[in-house]
Amino acid sequence: MESTQQYDFLLDLVTKRRTVRQFKSDPVPDEYVMKIIEVARWAPSGFHTQPWEFVVIRDPNVKAKIVAALDEYGPAIKDPAKNDTPRAGFRDAPVFILALCDWRARVGLPYAPRTIEEAAPLYQSSMANAFMLMHLAAASLGLASQWYTSASRPDAERAIRKIVGIPETLTIYDMMVVGYPAATPGSKIVRDLSDMVHHDACGEQDFRTDEQVEEYARVTKAWCMGEH
Ligand SMILES: Cc1cc2nc3c(=O)[nH]c(=O)nc-3n(C[C@H](O)[C@H](O)[C@H](O)COP(=O)(O)O)c2cc1C
Repeated sequence: MESTQQYDFLLDLVTKRRTVRQFKSDPVPDEYVMKIIEVARWAPSGFHTQPWEFVVIRDPNVKAKIVAALDEYGPAIKDPAKNDTPRAGFRDAPVFILALCDWRARVGLPYAPRTIEEAAPLYQSSMANAFMLMHLAAASLGLASQWYTSASRPDAERAIRKIVGIPETLTIYDMMVVGYPAATPGSKIVRDLSDMVHHDACGEQDFRTDEQVEEYARVTKAWCMGEH
């Protein structure tokens, strides 16, 4: 039997990568930032069109403007059980990486979608997998990272686009916050493998009931709130 050493290494990295929401302001070497983006360069994409571009934000003035835009249009999630206003810990991180999607690349798709909407499913997946590799790369370098999806909310996106100077043909897919961790995430709850794998055929009886889905969602929502 083949050695599973590489798989074991991969699984270890995958489980070690966690979302961190509190960062030290210690600088991250440029070389590490480029290593993070290097792995995205090798990611698969629809018809190999590689629609991605990356903007690395390190300048404290630019960072401060982005933080202000996100405070206004995509603030940290507030736990209704707590009274305090959450302080978004990402503001302390030394690096933000904006992952942009260049929709013009869709001309390289075989069915040449005319609109962004037509290309969206393929490009969302292309961007997501490149982005995921970047988070794994950060974890492999001992860095903490966070997806900051609110950066792609329409109002926040408009504001950040203006701050950074992103042309109309590109959109912000997501923002990656990178730095050294100032907090350790709690242990993660995940669904059982046997609960989600189905063999050869499946029917309604093989999936969770509405009640089970709702109950689990309650658990994960509470868990997520606790982590924020
Ligand atoms: C598409 C996507 C969007 C996310 N958006 C945010 C976000 O805006 N802010 C945040 O703190 N975490 C965000 N996360 C992180 C998830 O909350 C996190 O992955 C999940 O709770 C599991 O925790 P883990 O990453 O530590 O394994 C996002 C993750 C994904 C995949």
